[in-house]
Amino acid sequence: MKSVKGKHLLTTQDWSVEEIETIMQTARRLKEERNLGIYHDDILRAATFYMLFFEESTRTRNAFEAGIHQLGGHAHYLTPKATQIDHGETEKDTIKVLSRYGEGMGIRRTEVGGHKYMKTLAGFADIPVLNMQCDDYHPTQALADLLTIKEKFQNNLKGKKMVISWTYAPNYIRPLSMANSLALLMTRFEMDIVLAHPPEFHLRDEIMEQAQDNADKAGVDFSVANDMEEAFSDAHIVYPKSWGPICYTDDVEEGLDLIDKYPEWVVDQAKMNLTKDNSIYMHCMPFDRDIEVTSEVADGKHSVVYDEAENRLHVHKALMAQTMAR
Ligand code: CP
Repeated sequence: MKSVKGKHLLTTQDWSVEEIETIMQTARRLKEERNLGIYHDDILRAATFYMLFFEESTRTRNAFEAGIHQLGGHAHYLTPKATQIDHGETEKDTIKVLSRYGEGMGIRRTEVGGHKYMKTLAGFADIPVLNMQCDDYHPTQALADLLTIKEKFQNNLKGKKMVISWTYAPNYIRPLSMANSLALLMTRFEMDIVLAHPPEFHLRDEIMEQAQDNADKAGVDFSVANDMEEAFSDAHIVYPKSWGPICYTDDVEEGLDLIDKYPEWVVDQAKMNLTKDNSIYMHCMPFDRDIEVTSEVADGKHSVVYDEAENRLHVHKALMAQTMAR
């Protein structure tokens, strides 16, 4: 296994395939041990993992907090208000001090500038910093999704068709972090990837170029479709998720109007019937039930959403165990 001791995880693009496989292998072992009732609380005994959240969370927070406890350590739940960050303490001063007390840190900041904040902070850190989701990336979710796909297809991903699709979902503009992270990670693991979205919901040129480069190096296809049904046809894996038309407009009202232009971009049983019989429906959750996806699909035979959510635990534990290793 390739060591990732002390390494930050801000985007999976900074990690080699071998380093990512270290996390997959460790997560599988920790999952198996937990299922067998084997404790592994000697791995990070008495270690502290800081979880700095600028926004709320169900899965990310609880998977990290339960995970560090199971490894023998302890989590500190931090917010800007509960620290001096709201008073303007700099990234450098915050992490230099916390590095003296603890062994690792996770940050969630999905508002614009979130990635820049954590990159600056990580530059001063003496402990590994893990991106718990920013405006650009959600690497811990994407890694858990990769583990789920590997499990569901017995590690045989060659030639599998995966669709990363935009969906309709009203009310607010969601970040591009999931679509970006999936496009960047999955193009490196033998699958043929289709990115499906209405024209105005394209990703940044830089992300598209990196994903294409990943696909070229891996010898797989990476294509874009503007028709959801065409994309779903014969797919093995579908990952439909809403994001905002952020690369098209920064005007919120215009963005919301654009979302309303495409109400037919929802996942229902008719669309799932276009996919392979053994296909899987994925979503990072939370999802808007009976808006972006029907409950028939979310609770149906193709859905693996709770397995995905569970794998956050095992992958987070693997990330902490390997990056915070002594
Ligand atoms: N998928 C995900 O990150 O969920 P939370 O927002 O609940 O952490």
